Amino acid sequence: MEKIRTNYEKWYSSDDYYWGTKPAGFCDELINLRPVSIAKKVLDIGCGEGKDAVYMAQKGYSVTAFDITKNGIEKAKKLAARNNVTVDAYVDDINTFQVNDTFDIIYSTGTVQYLFDENKYAFFEKIAKITNLNGIVYFNVFVEKPFLQLPPDWDIEEKMWKSGELFCFFSDWKILNINEVIFKDNSGGIPHFHCMDTIICEKVNQDYKF
Ligand SMILES: C[S@@+](CC[C@H](N)C(=O)[O-])C[C@H]1O[C@@H](n2cnc3c(N)ncnc32)[C@H](O)[C@@H]1O
Repeated sequence: MEKIRTNYEKWYSSDDYYWGTKPAGFCDELINLRPVSIAKKVLDIGCGEGKDAVYMAQKGYSVTAFDITKNGIEKAKKLAARNNVTVDAYVDDINTFQVNDTFDIIYSTGTVQYLFDENKYAFFEKIAKITNLNGIVYFNVFVEKPFLQLPPDWDIEEKMWKSGELFCFFSDWKILNINEVIFKDNSGGIPHFHCMDTIICEKVNQDYKF
């Protein structure tokens, strides 16, 4: 029997959209930084049911998106069709994904903490390679705070990061925004708190040495 790696497969199995269909606020931030007139290709890592990927496609970008869940990808494709856009959406794993393309905007929200420890370094090395010069990236990750409990819907392969750890992978990039916030969440129906680190930065060197 196939090993269950994420509860999201089940959570995405109903017709309702677990995360809704409205895009996250950071999408407009990225669009303002790299409008479609100067940036074309977008990669969404851990796209879930596709709300952000579909929004970016509606704004005219050429969007590639993947998630580990079959149900999420099916719903992302349905959402794209419903909005008369195309998203190149497929099942893949953040730990091992390969793409034969480069991108002007790469983002991942709520998914980086699924990287296994031994894959972190290779992942960000890959991100540096597939980001076009002057392209931008947006990443966030849940971080551990001793005064916060683990969220009730914490997933099978999720692992808290250390505060500030994400930022260390981008020390050679031009930092456009760095942030750590604690916020209330109601996902899974039980109110709880998260601490999240977020970074937006620009690739300003062609070759990064790690
Ligand atoms: C918090 S949700 C965020 C989904 C989406 N980015 C959004 O904001 O709507 C985390 C996502 O990570 C996906 N995920 C879990 N493990 C993964 C992996 N190893 N590779 C790719 N995606 C994964 C889950 O299926 C889920 O869609």
